[in-house]
Amino acid sequence: MAPLYIVMLGPPGAGKGTQAKKLAQTLDLVHVSTGDLFREHLKNETELGQLAQSYMNKGELVPDDVTIKMVEERLSRTDCEKGAVLDGFPRTPAQAEALEALLEKFDAGVKVVPYIKVPDEVLVERLSGRWMSTSGRVYHAQHNPPKVKWIDDLDGSPLYQREDDKPETVRHRIEVYTEQTAPLIDHYRQKGLLVEVDGTQAIEAVTEDLMKAVEEA
Ligand code: AP5
Repeated sequence: MAPLYIVMLGPPGAGKGTQAKKLAQTLDLVHVSTGDLFREHLKNETELGQLAQSYMNKGELVPDDVTIKMVEERLSRTDCEKGAVLDGFPRTPAQAEALEALLEKFDAGVKVVPYIKVPDEVLVERLSGRWMSTSGRVYHAQHNPPKVKWIDDLDGSPLYQREDDKPETVRHRIEVYTEQTAPLIDHYRQKGLLVEVDGTQAIEAVTEDLMKAVEEA
């Protein structure tokens, strides 16, 4: 079977990570999140992690060349042979071009691009209430709370808030998204790959719409 690549598009806090994990699990694909990959580098104190941190904390994008190299390396691993759910990549036209060139080498292409739409005012509320586990699980204080406050359901470790989820940084991330990433909406619409999904619905309803989009692609 041809590998299946799904690109999750949407502003910071739209629910890309929450939904990408569910899709990857249901479809037996790998979840590739560039934000998670950078945070992993940061945790391991690599040179790339330090470089990425200086951009992430300001809400800026990490330069294309290093981001593209990291994704090429990740998608070339054998666990991605069946495809991947891409979360947070591509984020610029140059990254979209690099992805297309890479997938061509694999004799594949992007199958569908779900665009999770959420208005700006909801995004700040979502990100200021987001609690993360060190292994990347995502909760929300009100919308998706853990069983015990500030404790991960699965491994019992303490939850934390991301440095870049401060309201002023979130607002800058939304500006950066509007300037640099939103042009990809038209790019993928013109290719006939874009499917708009209402991200203001409950998490389970968004998942249902996304699964439908994938099945109909
Ligand atoms: P990254 O980690 O990718 O952040 P992001 O794209 O800004 O997205 P988020 O993780 O903030 O939000 P999300 O859409 O995944 O929402 P989530 O599911 O968590 O990137 C961070 C940084 O890394 C960037 O700023 C940049 O510096 C760098 N970077 C990453 N990729 C890069 C690239 N390609 N190029 C250059 N630089 C790059 O949900 C948010 C909250 O809402 C959670 O609390 C969740 O529980 C809740 N929630 C989710 N869905 C719902 C719902 N339906 N209803 C109610 N609450 C919900």
